[in-house]
Amino acid sequence: MQLIFATNNKNKLAEVQKMVSTIKIKTLAAINCTKEIPETAPTIKGNAIQKANYVTQNYQVNCFADDTGLEIEALNGEPGVYSARYAGANNNADANMNLVLQKLASHQNKKARFVTVIALNLNGKQHTFEGICNGTIINEKRGEKGFGYDPIFIPEGFKTTFAQMTQIEKASVSHRGKAIRKLVAFLNTL
Ligand code: IMP
Repeated sequence: MQLIFATNNKNKLAEVQKMVSTIKIKTLAAINCTKEIPETAPTIKGNAIQKANYVTQNYQVNCFADDTGLEIEALNGEPGVYSARYAGANNNADANMNLVLQKLASHQNKKARFVTVIALNLNGKQHTFEGICNGTIINEKRGEKGFGYDPIFIPEGFKTTFAQMTQIEKASVSHRGKAIRKLVAFLNTL
């Protein structure tokens, strides 16, 4: 059986394929899908479902899609679905982090969580898998590894940010790692 992962990110593909032995997983390139997939839902789960449905409906294939957001308690769940473009469409991770630090500066409550949802469309049925990582936003950036908001996020039970962890350490506690392990456990039962 073949399964399409609605991504162009080969690192994400490799991360999942390493854990699944029975199913060949391929990226969007395998179905010649070069269009930008719409992500206009108001929730993270909605976006994952929207992306998976777009691929299944337009290419008639089994597929899964993921979506992730950072939810900060004192900012009423922001940046949430806007995590990639919090400081504006043309901005980068640094600008996004600066905006978070600026908005949180006057708040005592630094609690935050990353949420990943994976939506799987398989043989006419839809399944979703969620991974949550609770933690804290610190007041300055620490570490060079990872991406996105990693330098300002310390997961619960740790003293280092995601950006100070190896990929393996991060995956063992991260939102994406948890959601992927749930997906993989399901796929391995097929
Ligand atoms: P995506 O849905 O995986 O593309 O993630 C959306 C945005 O959330 C990214 O552009 C990053 O800003 C942020 N993000 C997602 N996953 C992580 C993570 O593991 N660490 C830090 N930031 C992340």
